[in-house]
Amino acid sequence: MQVIRDLQDMQDLALAWRGRGETIVLVPTMGYFHQGHLSLMEYGRSRGDHLVVSIFVNPTQFGPQEDLDRYPRDFDRDCSLAREVGVDVIFAPDTTGMYPPGFQTFVTVEEVTRGLCGASRPIHFRGVATVVLKLFNLVQPQVAVFGEKDYQQLVTLQQLVTDLNLPVQVVGRPLVREADGLALSSRNVFLSPAERASALSLSQALFKARDLAANGERSRDRLFTALKPMFTCDPPINLDYLALVDSQTLKEIDTIHGPARLAVAAWVGQTRLIDNILLEVP
Ligand code: PAJ
Repeated sequence: MQVIRDLQDMQDLALAWRGRGETIVLVPTMGYFHQGHLSLMEYGRSRGDHLVVSIFVNPTQFGPQEDLDRYPRDFDRDCSLAREVGVDVIFAPDTTGMYPPGFQTFVTVEEVTRGLCGASRPIHFRGVATVVLKLFNLVQPQVAVFGEKDYQQLVTLQQLVTDLNLPVQVVGRPLVREADGLALSSRNVFLSPAERASALSLSQALFKARDLAANGERSRDRLFTALKPMFTCDPPINLDYLALVDSQTLKEIDTIHGPARLAVAAWVGQTRLIDNILLEVP
């Protein structure tokens, strides 16, 4: 496995592969790998000749009050996990390489980024779309793999490739959970044992909603009435949002007619967690 830090070296290698007609798969990450990241790599391995995983904690997607400085990092551990999965290249550019002095171009995906996390993180998806477009240009992938854990991010990037005619297939893969249901996240390391226990109410509420929908419940109001008491716990959970949205447009709906996502974001102590689930009414 090769580690590449230089942007030009990465692009030269990618263009050489493409010149030989070979296929490139990219898994973009911010590192501190867990089984969710590794599942994307395992899938990506089967989708092309070369598997590139980027590790870059992207400053433009963090707001001024957010956790950029304390975002967890462990580059050596990430490299050994990636090697075990059969990654060919770890692309780990530095911040000045990605955003040199004078950088001033950003991409904004408009409608699908307005609600959900976009409402409380106004610059977040602009940073995500910009860095992912840069990574596409540097790594030249035909296939890029993302997790449904960040469902709004996945929809945003699908919109980006459609609107800008990018020759990349964006593939979404299932959310990976701990055995007890908690969605895997690099930020879970910040949770104390008591906070982790409270955090479990997020996934438990989503599972309950899935079961209610599977039994025919279509009404958002009735679903939310059943779920809301589940978020009362100690230490407390501060809900940022609980939203029922159309799976494609991410617009809020009050009745389930087609594919719907129930999405939640909450603060548990100093840690902001997100989770979501597909709701299907038979
Ligand atoms: P990061 O949070 O490191 O996540 C990298 C990828 O792993 C994303 O596609 C994310 O959805 C996926 N992922 C995270 N937790 C997962 C889980 N429990 N199950 C399945 N997939 C999971 O998302 C980012 O980085 C950044 O925003 C990035 C796209 C790299 C742009 O900077």
